[in-house]
Amino acid sequence: MRQWKGAWLPHRRVPGVLSFQRRFTPRPDDVLLASPPKCGTTWLKALSFATMARAAYPPGDGDHPLLRLNPHDCVPLVDSLFSAGQEAKLDALPSPRLMNTHVHHSLLPPSVAHDPGCKIVYVCREPKDMVVSLWHFYKSSKTTEGSTYTLSDLFENACQGKHSNGPIWDHILGYWQESQATPRRVLFLRYEEMLRDPVDSIREVARFLEVLFTVTEEAAGLPEDIMKLCSIETLRGARADKMGANKVFVKFPHTSFFRKGVAGDWVNHMTPEMAQRFDAIVEEKLHGPGLSF
Ligand code: A3P
Repeated sequence: MRQWKGAWLPHRRVPGVLSFQRRFTPRPDDVLLASPPKCGTTWLKALSFATMARAAYPPGDGDHPLLRLNPHDCVPLVDSLFSAGQEAKLDALPSPRLMNTHVHHSLLPPSVAHDPGCKIVYVCREPKDMVVSLWHFYKSSKTTEGSTYTLSDLFENACQGKHSNGPIWDHILGYWQESQATPRRVLFLRYEEMLRDPVDSIREVARFLEVLFTVTEEAAGLPEDIMKLCSIETLRGARADKMGANKVFVKFPHTSFFRKGVAGDWVNHMTPEMAQRFDAIVEEKLHGPGLSF
């Protein structure tokens, strides 16, 4: 891990993040999905893609891209394209481009961070659930390095903010403050609220991106169709593995992106002492600015 401007990054990601920051050419109608890892990125990618591309790909279509590709293959992770020398793929995307990043708000290219045109949809979740989800994800890695990481190691690092794109409290705070300052540019979502009312979240994303559902689309049940298409069960069952389509995360099988999909699973993995310790750290960092989990 490397620390850069207060953020922890896996060292192999640093060149890509640097290039993203220095060489990214924005378009005024870009849409960037941002999140700490394991906080609902895959779900947000799926429902944003399904919402924005609904004219070309109706959600009820049995050959919808989300039924044959991993959502990460539908919405590119910007810095990974830079680190693979494939930024030309970003130029080839039709407008409005839909992309994603895990970097802190402070590490975004200045053009993206402050461009009045570019919209950012951010999702985060209860930090203890993020830690547990991250641990399961590492365990599902096809490499030995990932699968031997213990929860106790990960937890100790997370308490110091030292995890991929950590500290999570600074990550959340950066985007939250930006969403307060410029609510038309940054939409701040919580995974738990999306779970509580997924259809409402889909409408909220559509409203924010200015692709509102028409009366006819509402009457036809399009938001509900998108919700079903993007449900964890449907996405888990996509033919992505069989088609060998998941190119971005080659170390992880398609199904590792779709584990339980519930709130509060930390209780099955952390002791009360661990939970108290982590809560105290998060509360100290976020409570002052008025955020709580
Ligand atoms: P759990 O490990 O707690 O189950 P990310 O996409 O940022 O990597 O986040 C992964 C988390 O989102 C995992 O949480 C995963 O199960 C959950 N998830 C993935 N797709 C989902 C969906 N369609 N609906 C709800 N949760 C989903």
